Amino acid sequence: MTKKFILVLALLSLLSLPQANASSSPEDACVASAQTLKQVMKDMNVIWKQLEPQIADPAANPDSVAKSIQLQQLTTEALSLCVRKLEKVTDPAAKELEYLEYQKMVRHLFTLEGDLAKALLANDSASAKLTMDAMKELQKIGHKRFK
Ligand code: HEM
Repeated sequence: MTKKFILVLALLSLLSLPQANASSSPEDACVASAQTLKQVMKDMNVIWKQLEPQIADPAANPDSVAKSIQLQQLTTEALSLCVRKLEKVTDPAAKELEYLEYQKMVRHLFTLEGDLAKALLANDSASAKLTMDAMKELQKIGHKRFK
C-alpha cells in the first residue's frame, strides 16, 4: 500500500457527518445558503460521470478514491441545504418529518461513498461496482421522493 493510500485511509476514518441530536441541534429546518441543492447535485453528477467509466480500472483507483471523497464533501453540503419540493408542504410537522427523511437518505449516501473509497483502496473492483449500483438505486429513490 502506498503512503498516499494510507493517508487517505486515515482521512476516511476521520470523515463523518454530524449526528442528529434532537436536544442540542435540531435538524428539522434547512439552512438558507447561496449554494443551492441544485448546484451541489450538478457538481456531484460531474464527478459521478467521471467515476463511472473508470471504476473497474485499477490504475485509476487513486483518482477514483479522491473522487469518492469529493462526493462525500458535496454530500456533506447537501445534508443541510433546503429541498425546493418541501417548500410546498404546508403542515410544519409533516415538513419536518420529510426533511428528516431526506437527511437520512443523504447520510446513507455519505456512508456508501465511504464504502466506495474503502473498496477502491482494497482494489476490490467487484465491491466498488456493487456500491456504485447501490448509490444509483438510492439516487433513484431520492429523486422520486424529493426532486
Ligand atoms: C449519486 C447520487 C446522486 C447524483 C449523481 C444526483 C444528481 C442529481 C442531478 C443531476 C440533479 C438535477 C440538477 C439540475 O436540476 O440540473 C439532481 C437533483 C436533485 N437531487 Fe440528486 N443526485 C444524487 C442523489 C440524490 C439523493 C440520494 C437525493 C435525496 C436524498 C437527491 C435529491 C435531489 C433533489 C431534491 C434534487 C432537486 C434539486 C433542485 O432542483 O432544487 N439526489 N440530483
